Amino acid sequence: MTLAITPGTTTAVPAVVGADLRVPLVTGERVTYANLDHAASAPCLQEVRDAVDELLPWYASVHRGAGFASQVSTRVYEQARDRIRKFVGAHASDTVVFTRNTTDSLNLLARSVPKNTAVVLFDSEHHAALLPWRGPNVQRVPAPSSSGAAVVALDRALAAAPVGPRLVIVTGASNVTGELWPVAELAKVARRHGARIALDAAQLAPHRPINARELGVDYIAFSGHKIYAPFGAGVLVGRADWLQQAQPYLVGGGATSKVTDHGDRLGVAWSAVPERHEAGSPNVVGVHALASACEILSRHWEQTVAHEQELLTRLQDGLRTVPGFRELAILTDADKVGVVSFTISGFDAGFLAAALSAEYGIGVRDGAFCAHVIVGRLVKQVGSHEERAVRASIGLGTTAEHVDRLVAALRTLVTEGPKWTYVQRDGRWVPQDDNRTLPPFLA
Ligand SMILES: Cc1ncc(COP(=O)(O)O)c(C=O)c1O
Repeated sequence: MTLAITPGTTTAVPAVVGADLRVPLVTGERVTYANLDHAASAPCLQEVRDAVDELLPWYASVHRGAGFASQVSTRVYEQARDRIRKFVGAHASDTVVFTRNTTDSLNLLARSVPKNTAVVLFDSEHHAALLPWRGPNVQRVPAPSSSGAAVVALDRALAAAPVGPRLVIVTGASNVTGELWPVAELAKVARRHGARIALDAAQLAPHRPINARELGVDYIAFSGHKIYAPFGAGVLVGRADWLQQAQPYLVGGGATSKVTDHGDRLGVAWSAVPERHEAGSPNVVGVHALASACEILSRHWEQTVAHEQELLTRLQDGLRTVPGFRELAILTDADKVGVVSFTISGFDAGFLAAALSAEYGIGVRDGAFCAHVIVGRLVKQVGSHEERAVRASIGLGTTAEHVDRLVAALRTLVTEGPKWTYVQRDGRWVPQDDNRTLPPFLA
């Protein structure tokens, strides 16, 4: 989907809870937290918190009570399906199943595809998208180095796929590199080969508008906690038929329309989708938060994208001045959301992350980001022997000061070394004699 971006419109992005959070350093000082880990879990939007606050007095059982508050909660839950459908530009006939997160959504889809479905995916996918599909019918295509090569590789893979139902899984934005995958082009190829396509939108949904109809995708999965609504809900949106034919994902109350006692066995009539896959008491708070976040982001795309792109450029320009910095890249020609994974030669990623936190109050991620296959390959490409990298990721809670602090901290760590002693404990670097105090509610 095209989006006009006006440079310099970085004000007026939605505010996050915890923007002024103060964290302790090992030196005893306190500083404002620089959260550069939005790709893992984004902070809650202020407006999402307000929406949750508004709901809480009315909070009651969903689908299970005649009381007025139950009816309100049920209405909130059911209306959220349309709010989400609108956010992703889904077809009116698409079903919206609420889950816990993207992992849950993709596992549900994997359990629902017809037997012998041929599945094609790139091996750069996050484990949530990679691992639910295994067996002889799965083709894992080596990650290509450009968007054009991705389209060609998918075309070839589908041409070789067995006849019968086919499904392509693709991420909208890589959680390792932030690169945007050519989803519309891949969907065209899928369609030409009679395949359906599922979009892992965990990293795309918080950063770019999505329109399932324009993109031509059949399923979309994403998580509340990555889209500024950390209340335990996720979603799978898409074509109803396979989901309707599948056995319920979980069994229990809510997924059944009638249970009868036949003595030696129970007769069970399962509900239709979406309830068929939503057994148990629904998470109405999480779902309301998720739908509210979608609407808030929808009102601010221009500012959000401009804000993040400006900070991404600042981050990449700054990091390139750090001696030994090497950025990981898969699709070298693609635009990116605000995710930069990197190695610094001679420095362990876990040590850098520990020192950034302990001495500078900066939160980044280190490791292989639940994408071991691709991270293992990319770190080798940049000459590192460790199968680990550091990831800095930007979102609505990020400021220019956070970015500058990270760049300055890395320059100091690399050129002058740490000011504190670090030791390895259970395979992780930690500050020796770490006396940072936890917040009072944990004491
Ligand atoms: C691209 C991508 N897909 C899927 C997931 C899994 O999301 P969740 O942990 O919310 O299930 C993540 C999480 O980092 C991700 O980045």
